[in-house]
Amino acid sequence: MLGLILAGGMGTRLWPVSRELYPKQFLSLNGDQSLIRGTVERSLGYVDDVLVCTNGDQFFYVRDELEDLVDEENILVEPSKRDTFPAITGGSLFIREKFGDEPFLVLPSDHVLGEDFFELAIEASDLSDEYLITFGVEPSYPATGYGYINPGKELDTGYVVDSFKEKPSEEEARDFLDDGYYWNSGIFLFKPSVYEKELKRNSPNVYSGEQSYSEFMDGYEDYDSISVDYALMEKSDKVATVPYSGKWKDIGSWNSVFELMEKDENGNSVKGDVKLRDSEDNLVYSKNNRLIVGLGLKDLLIADTEDALLVSSKEKAEEVKSLVQELRKEN
Ligand code: GDD
Ligand code: MG
Repeated sequence: MLGLILAGGMGTRLWPVSRELYPKQFLSLNGDQSLIRGTVERSLGYVDDVLVCTNGDQFFYVRDELEDLVDEENILVEPSKRDTFPAITGGSLFIREKFGDEPFLVLPSDHVLGEDFFELAIEASDLSDEYLITFGVEPSYPATGYGYINPGKELDTGYVVDSFKEKPSEEEARDFLDDGYYWNSGIFLFKPSVYEKELKRNSPNVYSGEQSYSEFMDGYEDYDSISVDYALMEKSDKVATVPYSGKWKDIGSWNSVFELMEKDENGNSVKGDVKLRDSEDNLVYSKNNRLIVGLGLKDLLIADTEDALLVSSKEKAEEVKSLVQELRKEN
C-alpha cells in the first residue's frame, strides 16, 4: 500500500494566516510540526512509499518541508489548479507506471488522524480489488462542508455504499443524520486499475483509458476543476465504506483550529506574543512579531499577519471563505 498526499489546496477558510501561496498545510496549528509533515510522518510507518501531489506554486515549499522524508521524484506537480479529481487521477497513473497496480491511500494534508486508522486501512485493502473505498466517520452535527455516505449491504469489512452526496444543504444534512449516514472522512483507498476503470466509465471525456501519466498531465489545462467527490464518488456504483471511529479532524476552519489548540483557564487559545486580561473563550493567532493585547474580549477570533488582520466573532468564522472570495474580486 502506498500513500498519496493531497497538498494543493488553498485553505481560504483560515485566511489571513493561510494564503494561496502558503496554505494551511504548511502551518503548525497543533504543536511545532506543520500539518503536512505530520501527515507524512504518520503514514510512513504503515505505507511502503509516500507520494505528494501539489501545484507548481507550492512545489518548493513541499520539497523543502519534506526534504528528509519524501523523494523529490515522488512529488507530482500539477500544471494548474484543477481540484482533487485530476490530481488523484494523475497520481493513479503515475503509481501504476512506477509501482504497478498497488493500492494507494489518498490522504488530505490538512487532517489530524489517529495512528490506528492505518491498521484499519490495511485490513480494508483487499476490498480495493472491487471497490473504491471511502472511510466513514460518525457525524456529530449537520455539517454542510462534508460529503455524506449512505451505507447499504454489509460486507466482511464495511458496507457497500448506496449513495454518496457531497456538501448537502443543511436541511438534507439533518435528514442524513437521522438516517444513519456517515461523514466522508476525505480519505480514500484506491487500486489504480479499479480507479481507472470507474473513471473511464464515469468520465470518459477526462480519461479515455489510453493515456500515460505524462500524456494525461499534458492535457491538464483542459480539464474541469472538480473534486473527486463530485466527479466520481457521487456517480460510481462501486463504492464501499469502512467506518473509522478513532481520532479524525479536518482542520477546515478557524473553529476547528480552536477545538484543537490548548486553552488557558479562561478558555482562550493563543499563539504568538499575546496578552489577554478579563477575556474568555477567544482564539488569538499571531503570525506576526507585534504584541497583541486584549481587554475584556469574549468569543472573538483574531488572526494577525504582517499585511492583514482579521477580527471576527467566533460564530461568524465560517464566513471567512466567502469574504475572501469577495476581496479577491474587488482587488
Ligand atoms: N494536489 C492537490 N490539487 N490537492 C488539492 C487540490 C488540488 O487542486 N485541491 C484541494 N486539494 C487538497 C487540499 O489541500 C486538501 O488536503 C484535500 O485536497 C481536500 O480538499 P478540501 O478543499 O479541503 O476538501 P473539503 O474539505 O472541502 O472536502 C473533502 O474533505 C471532506 C472531509 O475533510 C471531501 O472529500 C468531503 O467529502 C469530505 O467530507
Ligand atoms: Mg478539507
